[in-house]
Amino acid sequence: MALIIDGKALSRKVRARIGEEVKELNAVQERAPGLAVIQLGEDPASTIYVNSKIKACTEAGIESFGYILKSDTSEEELLTLIAELNSDPRVDGILCQLPLPDQINEEKIILAIDPDKDVDGFHPFNVGLLSMGKQEALVACTPLGCIEMLKEYKIPLRGKKAVVIGRSNIVGKPMAYLLLRENCTVTITHSHTPVAELPELCRQADILVVAIGKPGFITPEYTNPDQVIIDVGINRTREGKIIGDVDFESVAPIVHAITPVPGGVGPMTIAMLLKNTVTSYRRRVAD
Ligand code: GUN
Repeated sequence: MALIIDGKALSRKVRARIGEEVKELNAVQERAPGLAVIQLGEDPASTIYVNSKIKACTEAGIESFGYILKSDTSEEELLTLIAELNSDPRVDGILCQLPLPDQINEEKIILAIDPDKDVDGFHPFNVGLLSMGKQEALVACTPLGCIEMLKEYKIPLRGKKAVVIGRSNIVGKPMAYLLLRENCTVTITHSHTPVAELPELCRQADILVVAIGKPGFITPEYTNPDQVIIDVGINRTREGKIIGDVDFESVAPIVHAITPVPGGVGPMTIAMLLKNTVTSYRRRVAD
């Protein structure tokens, strides 16, 4: 049986570490780190995410500013709020929960957030820094959580073959850049990669990151016994069960290590949001 990479336990550890760090900072600084969280409408999934982000902040000693706006909020109103938060000295990070309602252009919103407060790592300025391999980039929380798990479990990365399935701006691409920054040899596959070629490509990987949103897609023919698999998928079955992009039951017994769903990547994402917020705070108080 594979080593099960316990994202839940690790997230608890990382959050406790951040909590200690914040306590020390709060003892010498005039203010706590601050995160503004914006949500439009009351989509139940978004509400769960936003609430858990706010709760995690509170537990770590980070001040949170929640803005739950009506779903028919105009783009102009949202841009005005973001401009206020950009210049609010109590705010180190701004997170606008996606997806946004149709009347709002997401790209415009991402561009409006000050890159120094972009704790989601979605602004093209931060994406650019990451693509240049720069450490100072604020990096998207989900892929950052994946790398943190690999490092905490001391999985060797330098010179290793990594395959990332999925090329989204939020996960696949930043994941590939992070693995490249760690000196992996990286292949990205996507919806135009011939399906017939995919199992063999994946079998060659030392590290396989799957982020395609297809429940149970990865079966034993995609793996090898030395492989480490990071499953980013969060899919809900008809019975309401949460499962990943990997067929855990058939794959876990035959690979070296794997992240479970739930309890793998998901909990790490929130821990990385706290980490990015404290990073941004440190830069601001040091200015
Ligand atoms: N919606 C789903 N995941 C995320 C995320 O990481 N950040 C934001 N802002 N919205 C999301």
